[in-house]
Amino acid sequence: MDTIKIPKHIAIMMDGNGRWAKKRFMPRTFGHRQGSKTLENICKDTYDLGVEYLTVYAFSTENWSRPKDEVEGLMNLLKEYLNKIVKMSINNNMQVKIIGNVKKLDNEFQSLINNLEKATANCTGLKFQLALNYGGKDEIIRTTKKIALECLNNKIDVSIINEDLFASHLDTTDIPEPDLFIRTGGEKRLSNFLLWEMAYTELYFTDVLWPDFKKDDLGKAIYDFSKRDRRYGNVIE
Ligand code: FPP
Repeated sequence: MDTIKIPKHIAIMMDGNGRWAKKRFMPRTFGHRQGSKTLENICKDTYDLGVEYLTVYAFSTENWSRPKDEVEGLMNLLKEYLNKIVKMSINNNMQVKIIGNVKKLDNEFQSLINNLEKATANCTGLKFQLALNYGGKDEIIRTTKKIALECLNNKIDVSIINEDLFASHLDTTDIPEPDLFIRTGGEKRLSNFLLWEMAYTELYFTDVLWPDFKKDDLGKAIYDFSKRDRRYGNVIE
């Protein structure tokens, strides 16, 4: 029997919601709403398959430039979702962390995020990272500023700055780098997602639009990953 290597950490760019909605003559927000349902299923599926970490891109620093009604729709959906998944995460033993420039989000977001992270802090199942107001370049700049401040305050000396120290100041501190990146919706770019963290990540692109992405599609991506020659990943029979 073939041995399948399961990636320990999968990062997903959930692209194609707008086109999915357009095909149905519906507003883009309808696609995002359907996309959030797909995400709930995929969280369960990734864990069932043995993946330990899942990181998804929910709102980028660039998404603010979308039409005002779409940004408002997404913000409302995200707030609804952060509230809704508290119970679901606890029931599924899922630990949730938000990564990104969260300090720039409004007070309602701050309290929803605090509440969700605290409520799930002791969950020992899937470690789920939701990137909100996230940009890879922005994360690198915020990290650089954190380290510069520590130097200015004489907490650390410039000479000790190395890759490990830098990584430990990123939003993703304590989270292993993704083994596999999946982007749905046909585009073949990283689009500013986890730029530092994905230096060695295997990339997988599919034309499937995110709302249509199912466990089978996830399985195909993992199978494709498994065939590649890598040094990382859990091995199951
Ligand atoms: C890209 O689709 C997706 C996003 C801008 C954000 C991802 C959002 C979701 C999956 C839904 C909300 C998520 C949560 C966690 C509630 P697109 O609009 O770029 O699609 P297009 O490429 O077809 O235009």
